[in-house]
Amino acid sequence: MSQFVKELISKMTFAEKIGQMTQLSGDFFASGNAAITGPLQQANLSQADLYRVGSVLGVSGFEQVKKIQTNYLKQSRLKIPLLFMADVVHGYRTIFPIPLALAASFDPQLVRQASEIFSREAAAGGVHVTFAPMVDLVRDPRWGRVMEANGEDPFLNSQLAKASVEGIQGLRSIPDAEHVAACVKHFAGYGAVEAGREYNTVDVSEWRLRDQYLSGYQAAIDAGAPLVMTAFNTFQGKPATGNYHLMRDILRRELGFQGLLISDWDAIGEMIAHGTAADLQAAAQQALKAGVDIDMMSMAYLKLANHNHLSSNLVALVDQAVERILNFKESLGLFADPFRGLAQRAEKQNLTTKNLQLAQQAAVESAVLLKNKNDLLPLAKDCKIGLVGNYADNPDLLGSWSWQGKTTETPTIKSALKAKFTKISSIQNQQLQTADLQLLKQQDVIVACLGLSAQQSGEATSMTQPQLPEEQLALLRQLQQLNKPVVTVLITGRPLVLDPLVKSSDSLLLLWFPGSRGAAALTQILLGEEEPGGRLPMTFPQDLGQIPLYYNHFRTGRPLTGNQSDLDNKYLSKYIDQVNQPAFCFGYGLGYAKTTLSESQLDKETYQASDSIQVMVKIENHSDIAAKQVIQVYSQQIVGETVRPLWELKAFQKVKLQPKEIRKIEIDLPLSRLKYIHSDLKSRLDPGNYRLKVGFDSQSGLRQSFKII
Ligand code: GLC
Repeated sequence: MSQFVKELISKMTFAEKIGQMTQLSGDFFASGNAAITGPLQQANLSQADLYRVGSVLGVSGFEQVKKIQTNYLKQSRLKIPLLFMADVVHGYRTIFPIPLALAASFDPQLVRQASEIFSREAAAGGVHVTFAPMVDLVRDPRWGRVMEANGEDPFLNSQLAKASVEGIQGLRSIPDAEHVAACVKHFAGYGAVEAGREYNTVDVSEWRLRDQYLSGYQAAIDAGAPLVMTAFNTFQGKPATGNYHLMRDILRRELGFQGLLISDWDAIGEMIAHGTAADLQAAAQQALKAGVDIDMMSMAYLKLANHNHLSSNLVALVDQAVERILNFKESLGLFADPFRGLAQRAEKQNLTTKNLQLAQQAAVESAVLLKNKNDLLPLAKDCKIGLVGNYADNPDLLGSWSWQGKTTETPTIKSALKAKFTKISSIQNQQLQTADLQLLKQQDVIVACLGLSAQQSGEATSMTQPQLPEEQLALLRQLQQLNKPVVTVLITGRPLVLDPLVKSSDSLLLLWFPGSRGAAALTQILLGEEEPGGRLPMTFPQDLGQIPLYYNHFRTGRPLTGNQSDLDNKYLSKYIDQVNQPAFCFGYGLGYAKTTLSESQLDKETYQASDSIQVMVKIENHSDIAAKQVIQVYSQQIVGETVRPLWELKAFQKVKLQPKEIRKIEIDLPLSRLKYIHSDLKSRLDPGNYRLKVGFDSQSGLRQSFKII
């Protein structure tokens, strides 16, 4: 603690300290009576309360930030500047593909670059902290927030969590004025809500939390995230936000987090609804003991303001929280310049050609080609295309959590295709009329752009049936009658059950919510100027009944063998009405070029625990066009102290090959990555026999064996 902060704290009243620990949304700071008669009155707060608050949520823009900060400092007795925090999750004004799409790029450098760009745009807009990255491990597409996540694999999640924080903070532990600070969320295990139902119970064992869910948060904290946000859910029967063991023992002591802990929206107050706090006072005390520094919007900490009944221990915890808050404000330079980063002409930083080009490239690298029968794609530019579907001319390609993004600035697929293809016939009707069908019969290819709306993924969008609506499936059935090649472009924020789509499409391209330049990216892909570079970061199930379905599952005592005998033996871990296989597995994705792997080998057969494995493999591009591939390395521990996943991703490398190029690839795999949580909850690397698999997805690949002694 600096002398400055120390002296400041010594001058503060208890009410001022509690104020610093409270965050209110921007509408409380609306100018004039709106604030006094509106939210303040409803929350039974005074103007004095307002001008003691420490941070504001969801405000940005030169005028707004300047006005609120200026007015606040006039009223604040000790002139402690407000912190401005907001959800800049995959873009500020330039919107990148949703995080689940960026995860499909398997490209940490791309994620780092995208994060750096949206951090710069947000900082120029006066934001100090972004509530990102979200690193909740996700395995259930019924949960709409999978769109914000990095998918189902702990290693991919941790690699991208690291890259996100590095990009957001400009590779600094404390961001400079041109970058914002990262607030990693939601601690912990929010992605494991039962039945994929939003805000539902989470009941994972501490062993599983540590073994599979914590790596993303750990990576973000190790990369320097100075803030963490609590999760809405419970852990071991206690709401995370008031969970001493989760927050003090695991987050702060074991993961080494010393930064600011902020609750999610009203999460402290929600302990009453959870039934573990009788009232706001009790909830506030539980959160305070758990180490929550900032109360977002529940006003619980404000209830502690009359401290004559608070124990000295709680008063001391308040001082510790205020110290962390003021230290953070000082580290951002806010006392020296409360308008840090705020650029008068922020607009010149936004939506620049460079930013938009990267957003477009990100959409290319995130798109996943799931089917391409008879190499229908790419298409010739003079190909006669019938363009149909609810996304053919819909600018809402930004997805949820694209706060300052504007669909009015987002080209539609129709406009982008018309700019490059010479014979596009676009049909508006979602139910094709006779004339529409006649027109489509004259085309060479039909491109159907279908998908859920942006409001059908993100927070509070759980679905029991994650699949396309009947009217879109009906459209596909109409198209099938035409006996024309159909390219289906899928816009979605979550895995869907695709079966009818797959059957009625010759080519199927998953575009996700591709962001500000997604339409242009699609055009490049359809023309063959770029190969779709994505691979699935999350399994696509065959059937809703298989959910949750993920590749890195445990073997069970009666695993499938993968051969014919599985069909004859009913006493196996399987269903009687559906296969175990997904529609599309983790890591899957096609390219236009034909590539193969061969000659995989390891530098040794036996390793010491401190070694790294040098994995060597030859990749060949058999085509006369350039190729992209994601070489994936999976490990399998033959015998563990606990059960181990069938396969686990431990390394990956995205490669781009020239036509006909043959290249030897060497991938370094530190054996420390094979550590896992034993039943005593300690992380260890076991000696013993292992297998390694090098392939283009989680199901296929060249296998090697090795031993750790
Ligand atoms: C929301 C979300 C959280 C977000 C916060 C502020 O409820 O759970 O991810 O950052 O509130 O908008």
